[in-house]
Amino acid sequence: MQFVDMGHIILIVLSVLSSTVGQDTSCCCKLGQAKSSLVDAITTLQRTNRLLGGTSSSISSTEVAFHARLKPYVTLGSSQIVVFDQVITNIGQAYNPHTGIFTAPNDGIYFFACTFLRPHTATQLHLQMVQNSTEISRGHAATGGGSQAGSMNAVVYMHTGDVVKVRHYPGVGSEIIHGDWSFFTGYRI
Ligand SMILES: *[C@@H]1O[C@H](CO)[C@@H](O)[C@H](O)[C@H]1NC(C)=O
Repeated sequence: MQFVDMGHIILIVLSVLSSTVGQDTSCCCKLGQAKSSLVDAITTLQRTNRLLGGTSSSISSTEVAFHARLKPYVTLGSSQIVVFDQVITNIGQAYNPHTGIFTAPNDGIYFFACTFLRPHTATQLHLQMVQNSTEISRGHAATGGGSQAGSMNAVVYMHTGDVVKVRHYPGVGSEIIHGDWSFFTGYRI
């Protein structure tokens, strides 16, 4: 914006000059030409300013993407939220690595994924992905065969303020999730 303001100042100075210099017609003619090309330049700058302003604000307000890893092994109780505590990506800061909760900053369509591992020391692992209190995906890592992996995916429409999280399946006895090998991902489409 600063250069446009400077342009206005130059324009005012030129107007004053062209009305006071008076007698010398060739000088006035040159000033007139300079003034009109300056007006054109300012118009172009103002248009560019508007375009740039519009583009950058629309990108920054809707760009949302996160990717986080669970570091520790956690023994999960019924409905306990899995807090993927190690942030790898968090554009827009909509994922909270202290609570494990993603909060939609804008209305829109969002994609979520979770890959997880059950340690060989545990029997099974049941997880659920929820939007507010509605289940949007369910995942299971089967029993037997050493460690076992499971995964969940979802595409949902979210209103601003809606939340998505991964939690232990309600009503299942305590189960263990494998640290380092479990991830939670999400982004706005
Ligand atoms: C979802 O939960 C959030 C946070 O508690 C709340 O602000 C929002 O209104 C809820 N949305 C719906 C559709 O219930």
